[in-house]
Amino acid sequence: MHSVLDTFKLGPRNPGTLGVDFLSSAKSKTISSRSPIDGTLIAEAELTDDLQLETVIESARDAFKRWSALPAPKRGDIIREIAVAFRENIEPLAKLVSWENGKILAEARGEIQELIDIADFAVGLSRQLYGKEMHSERAHHRMFEQWHPLGVIGVITAFNFPVAVWGWNAMIGAVCGNAIIWKPSELTPIISLATARLAHDVMVRHNMGGVFSMVTGTGSTIGARLAADPRIPLISATGSCAMGRSVSQVVAARLGRSLLELGGNNAVLVLEDCDLEMAARSIFFGSVGTAGQRCTTTRRVLVQKNLATRLSERLVQFYKQVTIGDPREAKTLMGPLISDSAVKAYRAAISRVESEGGKIVYGGKVLEGLPSRLYVEPTIVRAHKDMPLVREETFAPIVYLIEVSGIEEAIEINNSVSQGLSSAIFTSSIRSSQQFLAQTGSDCGIANVNIGTSGAEIGGAFGGEKETGGGREAGSDSWKAYMRRQTCTLNWGTELLLAQGIKFGE
Ligand code: UN1
Repeated sequence: MHSVLDTFKLGPRNPGTLGVDFLSSAKSKTISSRSPIDGTLIAEAELTDDLQLETVIESARDAFKRWSALPAPKRGDIIREIAVAFRENIEPLAKLVSWENGKILAEARGEIQELIDIADFAVGLSRQLYGKEMHSERAHHRMFEQWHPLGVIGVITAFNFPVAVWGWNAMIGAVCGNAIIWKPSELTPIISLATARLAHDVMVRHNMGGVFSMVTGTGSTIGARLAADPRIPLISATGSCAMGRSVSQVVAARLGRSLLELGGNNAVLVLEDCDLEMAARSIFFGSVGTAGQRCTTTRRVLVQKNLATRLSERLVQFYKQVTIGDPREAKTLMGPLISDSAVKAYRAAISRVESEGGKIVYGGKVLEGLPSRLYVEPTIVRAHKDMPLVREETFAPIVYLIEVSGIEEAIEINNSVSQGLSSAIFTSSIRSSQQFLAQTGSDCGIANVNIGTSGAEIGGAFGGEKETGGGREAGSDSWKAYMRRQTCTLNWGTELLLAQGIKFGE
């Protein structure tokens, strides 16, 4: 396994601060990155101290000046080289994701593919950062909007997509001309170092070191410092609603901008007229994939009454086939949860099922006899809409099946929770599909028909409403969040004309 670290020039003790170059200080405190698979020590990551953070911020500011001066298509050329570096390292990056995060190799490879896809998207975008031109009401005047980069952007990411979510922010943010300081989850610092290092090395070749830097620490230390720093005009944060609430308040207090992608409580609506096999497969992947630790994980299934038992039985058949174990082995479909506290949250949710009136139809146990104590059974619960539990996001593979009378009730329950990330409907009716997609339908940022809640492509804007935070990342026109808009009016005539036809002192 150590060859994976060698690939990225990472030793057993890795500097936590990557910026001007790998900064290291003899005095640095470290955190141990341990694999959730079996608890083995992957490496020690040094925690960024205040002095190092200052160096990183200043070097990012300096890099921003050089980088933003390059024409965007030239920036695109350099990002193409980064995309190549990612492509050349799919396998070692995927292995490291799997080792440090615990997701199965197939999904880890998918995550690296997502990183490559967004880098490619950024290359194309480098020639499409379009502004609008509008007709001025004044003769011989031109009016248009143009987009400029913001400066240094702070990117805070979670353990569950330790690579792709940085990619959405870093590739798009950088093609727009910004410098990016990344604070990854303290649970996955080594894969983050490896990923950032690949991008950093390309930048150094072009004398652009400092465009991608990385700092290590907890949210309450280094994350809070980034959020409070007025030299960082935008903080993009992915994680829990609690994290987003605290980050955004600190950023708002200095009137900075935040871009939030927070918790989800995603539902799949299953109607009588659907292809049940397709619905069941999609719910299976949506709730068991990544061991239920995606923000897009299917957490609720709102199924029409007379299908409920059939769906539940089909899901149980799928769940029985799940091989749980080392995620690096091909036969494994579900690896461990990320940490003890994740297992604690799983147990806590399970312990509430019966007292709230639900019934576990499959799973519910933490597994013994595996290489760590972080393996749990994927779990199916027959629930009802009034259980407080179903309104919460438990970051674990637990899915709640809730019976509904029809599409109206399903939409109402879909929208009744505080989160608003992803949603899906399974139906063969055009009318029901459109009802779900209409303004009075799903209130989520993502609404799918006959595909599940998770596994979005990068081409669309990704994010959600309500307590999910309202941000949009990745494709479409999400790039606008990483730039400032300037409205320009240019008078090429010989007269000074005032808008609204005002005559002043004439
Ligand atoms: C996340 O869980 O934070 O749509 C991101 C998906 C992935 C991204 C998930 N493309 O499931």
